Amino acid sequence: MSAPKKPKLPFPLKTRLSISLIMTLTDAACRSNGSVNRRLLNFLDNKTSAKATPINGVSTKDITVDAESKIWFRLFTPTGINASAGGGSNTETTSLPVVIFFHGGGFTFMSPASLSYDTICRRFSRELNVVVVSVNYRRTPEYRYPTQYEDGETALKFLDENKSVLPENVDVSKCFLAGDSAGANLAHHVAVRACKAGLQRIRVAGLISMQPFFGGEERTEAEIRLEGSLMISMARTDWMWKVFLPEGSNRDHNAANVSGPNAEDLSRLDYPDTLVFVGGLDGLYDWQKRYYEWLKISGKKAQLIEYPNMMHGFYAFPNVPEASQLILQIKDFINNRVSNFI
Ligand SMILES: *[C@@H]1O[C@H](CO)[C@@H](O)[C@H](O)[C@H]1NC(C)=O
Ligand SMILES: *[C@@H]1O[C@H](CO)[C@@H](O)[C@H](O)[C@H]1NC(C)=O
Ligand SMILES: *[C@@H]1O[C@H](CO)[C@@H](O)[C@H](O)[C@H]1NC(C)=O
Ligand SMILES: *[C@@H]1O[C@H](CO)[C@@H](O)[C@H](O)[C@H]1NC(C)=O
Repeated sequence: MSAPKKPKLPFPLKTRLSISLIMTLTDAACRSNGSVNRRLLNFLDNKTSAKATPINGVSTKDITVDAESKIWFRLFTPTGINASAGGGSNTETTSLPVVIFFHGGGFTFMSPASLSYDTICRRFSRELNVVVVSVNYRRTPEYRYPTQYEDGETALKFLDENKSVLPENVDVSKCFLAGDSAGANLAHHVAVRACKAGLQRIRVAGLISMQPFFGGEERTEAEIRLEGSLMISMARTDWMWKVFLPEGSNRDHNAANVSGPNAEDLSRLDYPDTLVFVGGLDGLYDWQKRYYEWLKISGKKAQLIEYPNMMHGFYAFPNVPEASQLILQIKDFINNRVSNFI
């Protein structure tokens, strides 16, 4: 084997420096005793409010699911000329698919109000021509596993029973679960719960898993090779698992090592068809590929799309051509599932 080279990221120096600064400050906010400096994290997390007046062809509204536990979602509704003919159809009866999205941030950071996630969901809504439900779940370290999964399931059940909070031209039988990073971990576990929950109206037609955050005790080849590159470091992910997993359990808990020794038996569940995105410069690469392979071994339909030169979270950065490509691939997946899903 040749000596590992430091990966070169296809981002301008200014972007790399600002990511690097934010990661350094974020690490400083995560204390070794398992608490966080929320004041510093809130300062780093640039937020935006919901806006009824459309911006870039999409209007937004925040809807409360459970006031006491602060579960809510931001609803993104496309208002453009195509918005009434969802899923690529031209029928009179309008029927937009719904994408239920879980944001990333290691279970600890960010929310649907974070400017970056507001921007991503707005773009999804406009370019995929879907209604996006971006769920605010409770975060670590204040709340541990399984609170985040429960909150996701609570939001899903709320929508199942309260379809009227969604725009009229929405078809909840064309529902997709989606997420990135820790949000994709959540989307997976919520999908498993949805299989068991017996939902009435919502039907999960597919799962979109963008660079999911999974892990385990083992150090994988990609984790070792890419250590010290932007976004993912073992010290950071170890900290995230430590404050997330139940006290006393290690990273082979099935919340992290989904395909490991404590894996759920998916073969008996009506688990949705899944689209998994991975990046060649993402330290989580091996864990993500194992997830995909495990879905296949369990007899589920899964598709893997690799971006060899992309790092963790690449789609969040402005003007990355690969982000546009990713959206087109999601669009294909949704249209395909909608036309094949009876
Ligand atoms: C952890 O450390 C911070 C800052 O030193 C302190 O304010 C906090 O109370 C500590 N938390 C725990 C759980 O020990
Ligand atoms: C926060 O967002 C606003 C509006 O887009 C922008 O002007 C400002 O520079 C951002 N601040 C930080 C710290 O990123
Ligand atoms: C549906 O909405 C009502 C009114 O907000 C609420 O009381 C009820 O709990 C919701 N259903 C679910 C399953 O969350
Ligand atoms: C985690 O899961 C993988 C399968 O994906 C398995 O090979 C491994 O033994 C598990 N445990 C560790 C220590 O990583």
